[in-house]
Amino acid sequence: MPKLTVEGVGTFEVPAGKRLVLALTDEVKIDQLHSCGGNAKCTTCRVKFISGEPEKVTHAERTVLSARGLGVEHGLRLSCQIVCDHDMRVIAESRLAGSGKKDAGPRPEDAITPPPVWT
Ligand code: FES
Repeated sequence: MPKLTVEGVGTFEVPAGKRLVLALTDEVKIDQLHSCGGNAKCTTCRVKFISGEPEKVTHAERTVLSARGLGVEHGLRLSCQIVCDHDMRVIAESRLAGSGKKDAGPRPEDAITPPPVWT
């Protein structure tokens, strides 16, 4: 099983192929935001990669990061558009606590949505 390390939290084994946003919620058990429900529309699920950043990017992720002017920062990615298929180390700072939001957002589906077009 791939290992997911979140800075300041710990290292966790994650089922292979699980969406990163769901692994942060279920295995790491942090209050990761995912306001749009994992549909690559809000960017609140973003994490910063320290290592293991996937080379594949969905078209939806590339589009929304670029539109928000976030794509320029190396390592900043949307956890809803990534699956855990290798070891990763991330910083997860987009959290419910202190956000002023009433909840983390609707639970994302098990598979990447919208259906991924890899770039
Ligand atoms: S962009 Fe909204 S949850 Fe990922």
